[in-house]
Amino acid sequence: MLTIKNVSKTFNAGTVNEKKALDRLSLTLNDGDFVTVIGGNGAGKSTLLNMIAGVYPIDCGHIYLDKEEISLLPEYKRAKLIGRVFQDPLMGTAADMEISENLALANRRGKPRTLRWGITKEEKVQFKEDLKRLGLGLEERMSNKVGLLSGGQRQALTLLMASLQRPKLLLLDEHTAALDPLTAKKVLDLTKEIVEEQKLTTLMITHNMKDAIQIGNRLIMMYDGKIIYDVKGEEKQKLTVNDLHRKFREASGEEFSDDRGVLI
Ligand SMILES: Nc1ncnc2c1ncn2[C@@H]1O[C@H](COP(=O)(O)OP(=O)(O)O)[C@@H](O)[C@H]1O
Ligand SMILES: [Mg+2]
Repeated sequence: MLTIKNVSKTFNAGTVNEKKALDRLSLTLNDGDFVTVIGGNGAGKSTLLNMIAGVYPIDCGHIYLDKEEISLLPEYKRAKLIGRVFQDPLMGTAADMEISENLALANRRGKPRTLRWGITKEEKVQFKEDLKRLGLGLEERMSNKVGLLSGGQRQALTLLMASLQRPKLLLLDEHTAALDPLTAKKVLDLTKEIVEEQKLTTLMITHNMKDAIQIGNRLIMMYDGKIIYDVKGEEKQKLTVNDLHRKFREASGEEFSDDRGVLI
């Protein structure tokens, strides 16, 4: 499904700010893998997702999606294949457009991005149904501007939009980190539902170690631009937060923490 071979990325090469964010990283995901990604601040987690999505070019290596090399495809072409949800609820949706218009744009991913033909009746019916499943009452607010929604509602909508045209890959970058705990749980439950139902191959960065253990079928830990631990199935399910701390210490010689403090 997704194959990453020997990918490196250095920012600000040749300057005092030079930073090797990815260091000859390789990773292969199987069809339907739901992988949680953990690692301290600056480990290269977001850079990994950005490289897959094509936000910046890679320095070397190859990225294949479904056997097709995508490393040289521009970001907008990869967006037809890849759904994304970021940490910031403001990023995934257009605030000054209606809920239904946002959904219509997502529904036409890969086709010319225009609403010239309006939203069809069939789309409206489908959107209403989709929104109902979020359980947030948004189906009654389809003509509201998205800017009126709360952060959690916007993340739920972004998630729905990202999965509307079943993507080959779903990339989630701490997409619940900016939400209050209750809303974060709701959006996370919704994530599990959508991923399981559509059997989406998914990479989900999280700073919550318990979530990383409980969710998905595989877990990778990053440090200094590399994957230092990769575990799946039963072995993953049996892990404790303490195990993860120990693995991190063994591989890095440091304590596992980030700017939010020690990770739990
Ligand atoms: N656009 C960029 N320009 C310069 N440096 C960057 C850029 N993006 C990331 N970095 C650096 O690369 C390293 C990895 O960053 P990042 O992938 O965001 O880490 P993480 O998501 O694991 O916290 C960090 O040292 C960060 O400062
Ligand atoms: Mg990050």
